[in-house]
Amino acid sequence: MKNTLPETTPFFARDREWHPPAYTPGYKTSILRSPQRALISLEGTKSEITGPVFGHNILGEFDNDLIVNYAKPGEMAIGERILVHGRVLDERGRGVEGALVEFWQANAGGRYRHKKESYLAAIDPNFGGCGRTITDADGNYAFKTIRPGAYPWPNGVNDWRPAHIHFSVFGHGFAQRLITQMYFEGDPMIWICPIVKTIPDKQAIEQLIAALDMNATIPHDMRAYKFDIVLRGRRSTLFENRLEGN
Ligand SMILES: [Fe+2]
Repeated sequence: MKNTLPETTPFFARDREWHPPAYTPGYKTSILRSPQRALISLEGTKSEITGPVFGHNILGEFDNDLIVNYAKPGEMAIGERILVHGRVLDERGRGVEGALVEFWQANAGGRYRHKKESYLAAIDPNFGGCGRTITDADGNYAFKTIRPGAYPWPNGVNDWRPAHIHFSVFGHGFAQRLITQMYFEGDPMIWICPIVKTIPDKQAIEQLIAALDMNATIPHDMRAYKFDIVLRGRRSTLFENRLEGN
């Protein structure tokens, strides 16, 4: 069925030339995760679009500082100190106010704090690896963290994930969640990652790479990376999930 909804409605069709196909055998997990039958399209209901909603009074004082948010008092996470910042933008380049931006990542050695994680890199007792913030009136967000390490994963015999930070963006309702990953400018591991290689368009990959931003660097403290997230339209960030249209 042809998608007749304009882009400004909450649900619209996935651009299959921009987003990777569901079945990409080079990324082994996609073989079992991809649908085996034709998709069924459902109209979004009003309750899915409008609620439930989260309040904006949920943030803790250090939710946007992963260097200290899990650390013992007076201690800090180990690793390269960085500031990650950017804007959440709509298809016309306008900032989106009040979006809940959540992020999670491995520690400096490439290890997640998760009971199923088995990589031999050390756990950092002062690093939890997740945080959140809410965009301001112009769509800006920022958080402090340490640069995550690359890690090996069971796909091919020697596959490594490039250093990356996972992002989730919520609009005002829980049905509006989008998920993506941010990579770091200059990392040669990006271009040999089996997950990145499922993305057909080089420009779509480049939009997932945060640029070193010396203007936002804090002298004698931390370097900065800039990562804008475009929710929809022709310059949309590539999302792992997608709000589907008809
Ligand atoms: Fe990851």
